[in-house]
Amino acid sequence: MLKRKVLIVDDEKLVRWSLTQKCAEYGFQSLEAPGGEEALRLAAAETPDVILLDVHLPDQSGIEVLEKLKQAGDTSAVIMMTADPQLEEVKAALRLGAYDFITKPLNFEELSVTVQNAAEANALRTEVESLRSEMRRRTGYHDVVGVSRKMTELMKFVRKIAASEASTILIQGESGTGKDLIAKAIHYDSARTDRPFVAINCSAIPENLMEAELFGHERGAFTDAKALKKGLFEVADGGTLFLDEIGELSPLLQAKLLRVLEDQVVRRVGGVRDFQVNVRVIAASNRDLERAVREGHFRQDLYYRLAIISIFIPPLRDRKDDILPLADFFLDHYNRKFRKSVRGMTEETRRLLLENEWPGNVRELKNAIERAMILEEDSLLRPNYLPHAVSGSHTGPGTSASAFPAPAGETSFAGSRRLPALSIPDGGTSLQDIEHALVEMALRQAGGNQMRAAKLLDISRDALRYKMKKFGLTHPDDDEQAAPATA
Ligand SMILES: Nc1ncnc2c1ncn2[C@@H]1O[C@H](COP(=O)(O)OP(=O)(O)OP(=O)(O)O)[C@@H](O)[C@H]1O
Ligand SMILES: [Mg+2]
Repeated sequence: MLKRKVLIVDDEKLVRWSLTQKCAEYGFQSLEAPGGEEALRLAAAETPDVILLDVHLPDQSGIEVLEKLKQAGDTSAVIMMTADPQLEEVKAALRLGAYDFITKPLNFEELSVTVQNAAEANALRTEVESLRSEMRRRTGYHDVVGVSRKMTELMKFVRKIAASEASTILIQGESGTGKDLIAKAIHYDSARTDRPFVAINCSAIPENLMEAELFGHERGAFTDAKALKKGLFEVADGGTLFLDEIGELSPLLQAKLLRVLEDQVVRRVGGVRDFQVNVRVIAASNRDLERAVREGHFRQDLYYRLAIISIFIPPLRDRKDDILPLADFFLDHYNRKFRKSVRGMTEETRRLLLENEWPGNVRELKNAIERAMILEEDSLLRPNYLPHAVSGSHTGPGTSASAFPAPAGETSFAGSRRLPALSIPDGGTSLQDIEHALVEMALRQAGGNQMRAAKLLDISRDALRYKMKKFGLTHPDDDEQAAPATA
């Protein structure tokens, strides 16, 4: 393990010498500075984990040094030392973000524990920071692939909105076009990035629970309300609330949401007072909301409020220039994920991908590449393992039942529309595994919508949930999309 670095700042040579000895004894690497200027120089050049800083220095006070360190963005844990602690100094030091304040003569035993703790806390914070920026990298614009004119224009607009004060944003587009992705990109590129990103799917939660979910409830508000519950608006305070499938929100909740958006206040169910909240709401819909308004399913006033800033993500078939860059991006992704080394795609694969209509948009393309990557043993991705719909083949090994490709030429159950082309391998198979795979596929095909997935399998939503639980399934796309999720 790397040795922790301690910077000792004291004008007394003897103090520096004895602290250096102790540091060595406890396994810390140390640096010395006799005054403030030298301390600031060393802190910048050496990025120590811990700084032991005397309050009384010849050239400036330790408090001033601390202030300059913090202004310069220094991240080390600063422990202030003094022989005669003044309350005002202690308060100032702690206010400025000192880690601790200790009095001389120093008790080395205690000091070593404090230094150790400070170093740990610092390492942990650095780790959290880097994980956070990694998160941001993963969910930021770097992950939004788009080279077509439509997408580059759109991303320019998205960046502008992210940096703006806009408090409501509407994202529309067909299923699988990237609404979730853009919503996250907006959040992580905004000033709200260090505050929560909370997502909830309005169609996934029964209406009677949705209100409490969004606005919270007081203790005893209704029979099951044993304890106070914070609503997602409160949880997301300072951050972003992503309301997915907003078109599914009940009329009552549409009215309540409008009030929150207009006044930026929420009231818990059973509550008597309003809470001020500062939340950016990003709503998404894959239904044509304007039409829903015309047909009377969606409140016009709410629609106008949401649509002040509105983003429409075009379907993939209208921006074909994005298909191959996206495919390359997913190929890369699955190479890493599956530890494969597929170098690229054959000409034929490229042609098929380009010609396809992609009704399921980017998600469908991603799934097609995933499946092909799982099965490909060659160094180039061949059309062999692309789904039927893409390859247009009816005899290739590509079937819609991705986990169980039927052998070439096999078209079992081909006559029935209700059964996918499955066949049992010679070695036999497991009904459980097939059920598992089918549930997964249905969820995927339904874009994570449980109602739709249940319908695809002709079972009740409860039955589907039971099976999801049994197979440990959450959301089909990735590991992080379960709603409501806090990032
Ligand atoms: N431009 C893009 N670049 C990279 N990946 C993308 C892009 N657009 C979408 N994806 C990926 O495609 C998948 C589907 O995208 P997403 O979940 O954002 O779609 P959606 O519009 O929210 O769909 P739905 O309406 O079904 O909820 C995700 O895995 C997402 O990361
Ligand atoms: Mg979505």
